[in-house]
Amino acid sequence: MSAASLPRAVVPGAGGRLLRWVGDDTALKRLLTARSWMIRAYFEARYLVPDPWRLATSEYERARAERTLAALGRRRYGTALEVGCGEGLFTSRLLALCDRIVAVDFSGLALRRARRRHAGDPRVRVRRLDVLHEDPDGAFDLVVCAELFYYMNRAQFESLAPRVARWVAPGGDLCLVHGTSVHDAAGLSEARGGGTGARALHDRFRRIPGLVVLRERRYPRYLITVLRREPPCG
Ligand SMILES: C[S@@+](CC[C@H](N)C(=O)[O-])C[C@H]1O[C@@H](n2cnc3c(N)ncnc32)[C@H](O)[C@@H]1O
Repeated sequence: MSAASLPRAVVPGAGGRLLRWVGDDTALKRLLTARSWMIRAYFEARYLVPDPWRLATSEYERARAERTLAALGRRRYGTALEVGCGEGLFTSRLLALCDRIVAVDFSGLALRRARRRHAGDPRVRVRRLDVLHEDPDGAFDLVVCAELFYYMNRAQFESLAPRVARWVAPGGDLCLVHGTSVHDAAGLSEARGGGTGARALHDRFRRIPGLVVLRERRYPRYLITVLRREPPCG
């Protein structure tokens, strides 16, 4: 997420000050990732304002979504898992490529909006899941993780990355999208200062046996990497 996409809502009084405080602070993110309940509270606070990152209205976010779909190419996926789906806005776009989507997030407020958005659509299942502690059922032809891995500490990321790789079915794809700015690199100390947050995060997946990079697109403010889980030999 970029500073440019932080909430613009003007909320008066103490509530407004709290929202602005949680809105843009790298040090705060680092502090919050020390305890998983705190990072959940952070997201609930962000989602007090609908569409906190202006996915529906910002040109930057529209282009990021389109480039993500373009990076996936023309493949049609049977099943997809979208991790950190938020209010289900990108889920709607992803339906162009997938027959069925399981969209997961740990924020109750975001999920309520996602459920409303996709109500009655049998192709979308919206599920509450904290991926630090639980696995989705089964494996998927496509797994998408966008702007997710900053919100955990190094140990949490290290234990999550191989689990995410296992959620990809053999022959399936893993799509990673993360910002390259220093601001966004709060979660991983080694990424601080160099502006290489996404690089460090995505490279972790390159080192997982069985995952190979299919495509990578670098833009000034984010990196999109698509990896494929090789089917077993023989
Ligand atoms: C910065 S938003 C990104 C939303 C969307 N993926 C995008 O790219 O625009 C991060 C999302 O991940 C969710 N999230 C963060 N940590 C999570 C976790 N451990 N389990 C499930 N969802 C999580 C948050 O609630 C939030 O909706």
